[in-house]
Amino acid sequence: MACNIIRMISLPCVGQVVQGLEPVTLNTNLKLRSRVCIKKPSTVAKEQTPTSGKFGTFGGKFVAELLIAPLEKLEAEFNSILEDHEFKEELETTLRDYVGRETPLYHAQNLTNHYKNINGEGPEIYLKREDLGHGGSYKMSNAIAQALLAKRMSQKSIITATSAGNHGVAAAAVCAKYSLDCTIFIGTKDMDRKPSNVQRMEMLGAQVKLVDGNFQAAVSESTRSWIENLETSYYLAATAVGPHPIPTMVREFYSVIGKETRKQAMEKWGGMPDVLLACVGTGCNALGLFHEFIGDESVRMIGIEGGGVGTNTNDLHSSTLVRGEVGVFHGAMCYLLQDGDGQIIRTESVASGLEFPGVSPELSFLKHTGRMECYIINDQEALDAYKRLCHLEGIFPALETAHALAYLEKLCPTLPHGTKVVVNCSGTGYDDVNVVLNM
Ligand SMILES: Cc1ncc(COP(=O)(O)O)c(C=O)c1O
Repeated sequence: MACNIIRMISLPCVGQVVQGLEPVTLNTNLKLRSRVCIKKPSTVAKEQTPTSGKFGTFGGKFVAELLIAPLEKLEAEFNSILEDHEFKEELETTLRDYVGRETPLYHAQNLTNHYKNINGEGPEIYLKREDLGHGGSYKMSNAIAQALLAKRMSQKSIITATSAGNHGVAAAAVCAKYSLDCTIFIGTKDMDRKPSNVQRMEMLGAQVKLVDGNFQAAVSESTRSWIENLETSYYLAATAVGPHPIPTMVREFYSVIGKETRKQAMEKWGGMPDVLLACVGTGCNALGLFHEFIGDESVRMIGIEGGGVGTNTNDLHSSTLVRGEVGVFHGAMCYLLQDGDGQIIRTESVASGLEFPGVSPELSFLKHTGRMECYIINDQEALDAYKRLCHLEGIFPALETAHALAYLEKLCPTLPHGTKVVVNCSGTGYDDVNVVLNM
């Protein structure tokens, strides 16, 4: 097969960075100046003004004038499908017959036994098996929904960016299904870690463009490409990061995960989960599971970030919610990783999908209000968890998912007997075997 990879050089990322939570001066490489004050809200709430794309102070639309009209057009189309029965029916049928939804809520009996104390007591562990959906990860549901949206907007070309490659494969697959041209940007670092995903994207007919760097660089480059082709292309956002309406729209399409979990929990034990656990890269799979339960304050929501090689201050890591500060990144206010000069810090994790210096504005809000707990798991802990799930349950978790699974080691001994814990098994780790064996 002819190789259609094009290597590109990424430009430096432009971020408007706000340091700390007190009034400060915006320090940006665009030399913009403004004063911002972020106060911690006293009460926990769902997003405060859903239609404006603001989650408390987070979110918004910090973009060049050029992008306002296309984003408004997207917002109008998105709002229209929310009430459109025909769209909803087509999406539901496709999620069932093409993606394989609903994905199982699997009682991991051996993992549950592993965490029993000497009295035979401990939590019950369930895995939301997103790894069993078409494409091997949770990504397909959003890709399908946005491809349907692109068709409604009469767009025939899709531009997108991928990190670990799961979103790229999902986007390429839906473009094949709906006969859409597909251009996918991927960082060289991610392509080197998962070359098989690039082969899959090409086999599905996508044009893959390589960008020096990782996901952050791929997003920047794909956005530039979209700006050059605004009239003729649809930007298929992989993540709930970016200017409004993208965070709200992408979260809506992933929230099927939590909706199914609520129904399945009711069927299996007649109640709600007590604890929801998910890894956090940009925050999509976590939001997909959490969003349905934000108003149920008895349900703990725990997000796990990549600690890289360690958890010391100077180590390279991807712990944006735990260690980041508030600023504007890729068009929205969110937590982000920055240095003393307000420049974006290089991220690092054994799981490529966790390497991102920003995070969803909605998760930023949930963390900021205290509704969501956030912790760090380092590479070695994740690798151990990967092997544990293989050995105990015969399931390969994605290395991203393995970060959430690793936190069970710390969490389970603290939980009362019978606590129902749902871990989002966000993707399969078949392709991660080599990485694990070589570490
Ligand atoms: C399988 C899998 N899980 C988790 C993630 C982390 O991303 P997010 O936090 O946006 O869900 C990724 C990202 O590519 C992924 O591929």
